[in-house]
Amino acid sequence: MNSQEIRQRFLKFFQEQGHKAVPSSSLVPTDPSVLLTTAGMQQFKPYFVGQKDPLADFGSKNTVSVQKSFRTSDIDEVGDETHLTFFEMLGNFSFGGYFKKEAIHYGYEFITKEMGLTIDYVSVFEGDSEVPADTESEEIWRSLGITKIERFGRKDNFWGPTGAEGPCGPTTEIYVNGVEVWNIVFNEYYMKPDKTLEPLKQKGVDTGMGLDRLAVMVQGKKNVFETDLLEPILKILPESMDSRHKRIIADHLRASVFLLADGVMPSNKDRGYILRRLLRRAFTYEHIYKFSPQTGESLIIEVIKKYGDFYPELQNQKNNIIDIYFGEWQGFKSALERGLKVLEKENSIDAEKAFNFYETYGLPYDIIKEIAGVKAESLTLEGFDEEFKKHQEISRAGAEKKFGGHGMVEGDLTALDAAEMKVKTGLHTVTHLLNAALHKVLGEEVSQRGSDITAERTRFDFVFNRKLTDEEIKKVEDLVNEAISANYPVKIETMPLEDAKKSGALYFYKGNFPEMVKVYSFGPSADSGSPFSREICGGPHVSSTGEIVGKFRIIKEESSSAGIRRIRATVE
Ligand code: ALA
Repeated sequence: MNSQEIRQRFLKFFQEQGHKAVPSSSLVPTDPSVLLTTAGMQQFKPYFVGQKDPLADFGSKNTVSVQKSFRTSDIDEVGDETHLTFFEMLGNFSFGGYFKKEAIHYGYEFITKEMGLTIDYVSVFEGDSEVPADTESEEIWRSLGITKIERFGRKDNFWGPTGAEGPCGPTTEIYVNGVEVWNIVFNEYYMKPDKTLEPLKQKGVDTGMGLDRLAVMVQGKKNVFETDLLEPILKILPESMDSRHKRIIADHLRASVFLLADGVMPSNKDRGYILRRLLRRAFTYEHIYKFSPQTGESLIIEVIKKYGDFYPELQNQKNNIIDIYFGEWQGFKSALERGLKVLEKENSIDAEKAFNFYETYGLPYDIIKEIAGVKAESLTLEGFDEEFKKHQEISRAGAEKKFGGHGMVEGDLTALDAAEMKVKTGLHTVTHLLNAALHKVLGEEVSQRGSDITAERTRFDFVFNRKLTDEEIKKVEDLVNEAISANYPVKIETMPLEDAKKSGALYFYKGNFPEMVKVYSFGPSADSGSPFSREICGGPHVSSTGEIVGKFRIIKEESSSAGIRRIRATVE
């Protein structure tokens, strides 16, 4: 049974039991306390806690999904037989619908009947001073003929929460071939930021089963790299290569493809930094084995081919993904060569030195640790992070000094005084109009990659493959100037992020979006839902485009890095 069939069988099995199939949410979560999506339950948090009504949104109290997930905790382990950064999680959920009996019965049926596997044993929560032992689950398992039941504590059989707070509860886990395959969580509590537990008003079920791991069992393979999900990707690399290195490249490029498709850009911060580490680690091995970057490109294309049917965003973003891959490689290759040479000459590497390497050559922690080998024996990620933090504090102090400790901050803008804020606000709206005009003239594949507004001009970076023609530039300018002359009033709406995306609003990830976002629209039919410009944004903006005084002009259009164009524009 191939993995596509496993996904379909899972969805169908639960749909037949009245579950609504919900698409995977983005790897970039709405919850600002979490960097990346690590579990299927994350998108359903508001339903577990009763903030949102599942009947209204899904027509059912029960849902099922195949969720794109990423766990940073395992980055250093990748290369062995089981650890992965990116994986897909099969999950069924109930928000005040069914509970232990049905959840366990479903799990049993799916594993034994649908997948034809034998359950070795299961585990349940043993109980502690706050949460009682889960004897109910034990009884249910026994009634199904499962007699080998382990009892474990908080570390193994208690879930959650993701982020600073959230729903959580005891779990029961299914083991096949000695390996945990399915985690079934009974959400009965809400964990507050101070870690105390409060009973939830409604009980819930949250389950998660890694597709790669399940495929190992169903397909009778030895490890996650031999299934039909990863084997074709690994096969592109030469037989003679060290298998650990092969696995790292395959895992990291697969994960990078998914992160890029969800709008993450390589950077030195947060999830951008995670992506950068993955890409650069892959580049380093490519370099060591003297591959051209086209080898990595072939792997990326294979990932897109393999996953594109189920995750269409991969196909839609194919060109962007490849462009950004090459852009990052361009920016890294000469520093990598120099860095590796200097690293060779060092006798020992401590955290401070490692951070210097990172600062000077962009070599990520993992690479330094790996390449330096025994020379970096004492180097730990904690030590490196410590240096990182020290440096951030220093640069933050520097920024405050430069700003004289004063200045205005409003929404997405900063300014020295009210006058500058006013000018920047106008240019901010102009930036939205420009983004909208670029979409209209160049097509929907245009995708914002950054912007920077000063009192003099706006600068806008976007993914696009070639230079704009004079005619296109003129068209964009005309559209923006027409929008300014039309004096469109602003319409501001606050709505859940998912609704905003569905409404066709443009957006650009700069960090985390809150659960509720503001959408700024500028006419002509802002009310009918198809305005000139519609974007998720933190503001501020002019109250009508007529407040923008002057003529909009693109003063420069150039390449900023591979596959990314940069426009500078003024209103004068
Ligand atoms: N949320 C649970 C997990 O990810 C099911 O393991």
